[in-house]
Amino acid sequence: MVDVAVARALHVLAVVIWIGGVAMVTMVVLPAVRRGDIGPNRLQAFEAIERRFAWHARIATVIVALTGFYMTDRLDLWGRFRLREFWWMHAMVGVWLLFTLVLFVAEPLFLHRWFHAKASAAPPDRAFAVLQRAHWLLLALSLITILGAVAGSQGMSLL
Ligand code: HEM
Repeated sequence: MVDVAVARALHVLAVVIWIGGVAMVTMVVLPAVRRGDIGPNRLQAFEAIERRFAWHARIATVIVALTGFYMTDRLDLWGRFRLREFWWMHAMVGVWLLFTLVLFVAEPLFLHRWFHAKASAAPPDRAFAVLQRAHWLLLALSLITILGAVAGSQGMSLL
């Protein structure tokens, strides 16, 4: 089962790059931008970083889905989606779906324009506060999912 080992390694690697980036943006970049530490133009500073990270995150979400569904099929784990103790399998697909919708649908269609308009208006603080809360929520869901998946794949359900 070398193929499953490779898929698992790529799966975790992509998760690390993706969720690690979300943690960095949430806990380091956004607080620094909000305080004006990266320059007085907060919107420009944030968009320069977020624009580059969005592509890393998009590529990572695709790799995570391909490797995740490959493992599910190869190990025939579909039955897990009917069992409560495998809540973390639902959580993985849920987190992936949420980010996919944000990165591939909402952001290019309206989220980017909405945030740009809100943050360009004076005062922009509220727009950044809402953005940071949304990032905290996504990060918390992702971390709970990672905890559940690592423990769950070793047979410990946590629920
Ligand atoms: C389409 C979405 C996804 C699918 C189908 C999927 C599927 C899987 C499968 C089948 C496994 C192996 C479980 C086992 O060995 O018992 C796994 C492991 C794992 N997944 Fe996902 N996954 C997805 C998304 C995610 C996301 C979004 C995260 C993180 C937020 C994540 C984090 C992990 C982690 C940390 C492991 C455990 C690796 C280990 O300890 O061996 N997955 N995933």
